[in-house]
Amino acid sequence: MTEMTLSKRKWTLLVAFLVVFIAGLMGGVIVRRSTLRSTVAVASDTFAEYRKPKNQRLIDEFHRLYYYSTGTDKEASSVFWLGIPVWKNPMDLWVMQEIISETKPDVIIEAGTYKGGSAFYLTKICDLLDHGRIISLDINDFPDKPQHKRITYLVGDDVAESTVEKVKALIRPGETVMVDLDDGHESAHVLQELEIYGKLVTKGNYLIVEDTNLGTIVATDPGHFREHGGPQLALQEFLKRNNDFVPDSSREKFLLTFNRGGYLRKTR
Ligand SMILES: C[S@@+](CC[C@H](N)C(=O)[O-])C[C@H]1O[C@@H](n2cnc3c(N)ncnc32)[C@H](O)[C@@H]1O
Repeated sequence: MTEMTLSKRKWTLLVAFLVVFIAGLMGGVIVRRSTLRSTVAVASDTFAEYRKPKNQRLIDEFHRLYYYSTGTDKEASSVFWLGIPVWKNPMDLWVMQEIISETKPDVIIEAGTYKGGSAFYLTKICDLLDHGRIISLDINDFPDKPQHKRITYLVGDDVAESTVEKVKALIRPGETVMVDLDDGHESAHVLQELEIYGKLVTKGNYLIVEDTNLGTIVATDPGHFREHGGPQLALQEFLKRNNDFVPDSSREKFLLTFNRGGYLRKTR
């Protein structure tokens, strides 16, 4: 082999290497660009997908995942407001804060005090707004409830006439009223409450029916709710009979709500 042939082979190899190297670089750029393009395409398609109603199944599945994995179905609460247990999910607490800051009710009636965590939460929102007070009712008198000048606790069955009279006596003429129903969850009881406390809510304010997920999305005690029906059944019956309220679905914007269909706004 001559020296001339050897250097010709070297050159051929070098050029071949350069061609493969440059092709590799260009290929990488093309692949990266197309991957980026397809990622963006997938992402935007997904956003559109998620807005479709068929995702209700996904929402309900997440609801159950949240509910059971946080132990909301047990005799305890894993949500705390300043160290006090609150039996609600944080999304619904946030929505309540938005409703209160928009509507600024003079009085918030809460049926179902439990340990006072939700009453204390409402109180702190009122403190921040420098407006409003809370009347919180429970059939049981739990000890060590948080005390605050804006909260009045009443002990009694909230549908008993004597309790209702005490509540009415605490509302001054002309005051605006919001109501949150979060106590007994059997449908007959909730319907009775809706009839009684719906009348106390003032126009433009809210009547919140809590835990409409019971026996519908979550089955904490399926036999019980099959027999007695839950808040959702009461809500539907109430809306058939009453034209003063409309369910405000915009309050369900975070998708996870225990009060599906239960954010009722009084329109007249
Ligand atoms: C789900 S807990 C309330 C939770 C509380 N609002 C919170 O978010 O932390 C329900 C409460 O309703 C009370 N309750 C049940 N039936 C009642 C009735 N007929 N009248 C008043 N309170 C009742 C129970 O004693 C219990 O404390």
